[in-house]
Amino acid sequence: MDLSKWQEYGDIRTDSLWVIDKRDNSGVHNGAYHGNFIPQIPHQLLLRYTKRGDFVLDPFMGSGTTLIEAQRLGRNSIGIELQESVITEAFSRITQEQQSNTITRGYVGDSRNIDIKNILAENNTKQVQFVILHPPYWDILKFSDNTADLSNSKTLEEFLDSFGAVVDNICSSLERNCYCAVVIGDKYANSEIVSLGFYCMELMRKQGYKHKATIVKNFEDTKGKANQQGIWRYRALSNDFYIFKHEYIFVFKKIN
Ligand SMILES: C[S@@+](CC[C@H](N)C(=O)[O-])C[C@H]1O[C@@H](n2cnc3c(N)ncnc32)[C@H](O)[C@@H]1O
Repeated sequence: MDLSKWQEYGDIRTDSLWVIDKRDNSGVHNGAYHGNFIPQIPHQLLLRYTKRGDFVLDPFMGSGTTLIEAQRLGRNSIGIELQESVITEAFSRITQEQQSNTITRGYVGDSRNIDIKNILAENNTKQVQFVILHPPYWDILKFSDNTADLSNSKTLEEFLDSFGAVVDNICSSLERNCYCAVVIGDKYANSEIVSLGFYCMELMRKQGYKHKATIVKNFEDTKGKANQQGIWRYRALSNDFYIFKHEYIFVFKKIN
């Protein structure tokens, strides 16, 4: 970012509350993957924290939302995803917008232990300048039957251990003084909140990352809750809870 032109960057958000009513469905984005995030999340983060030619790493690639935004903005990107069929589907769309001047790659594997150094070497780089982590929100939505899938963690401790292993492995390749973001929501079980967001935030801080931002973003009814507003309202009223309408985007800086 060229700060001498800061007044021209009107499209970059600087507030910590992101109320975004409409998903960007332009081009090859289609929003069909259950559990994806809206393209505006990686778009904003990449505008803010990266520049053209940088490398972006997404260890929970899913339907490739980050990769599509990265290549549109002239950033190189690498996605890692456990499910091969999900990568294949994503690349059938991503390649339709392929830019000749950017690298956009996907690798099938477990982000807890995939050989990230080797992947980067294959793409002629040693480090990346931004990492975006959008893990399963523990077991709220099961992505596969694979035991390596974080959504199959049996306990909160197991989920956090696995998330920590992904951070260790993947963020080891993040360049010093660059940024990473964790996008996550909370869960409700046994009549109480399991604050996955705050647990993951604390884990990042304990691993030495400097906490730079907590952004609260709205979301509308998920596919699972669509057309069931009445039932959920009744459950909320009768069980003293509030229906989640927000998730978190935590931003960290690598300082060590
Ligand atoms: C919340 S989704 C990410 C969605 C993505 N941001 C998008 O817009 O499509 C989490 C993804 O992580 C994948 N996943 C779960 N455990 C993984 C692991 N150990 N290594 C790599 N990918 C994993 C799941 O298959 C799922 O596609």
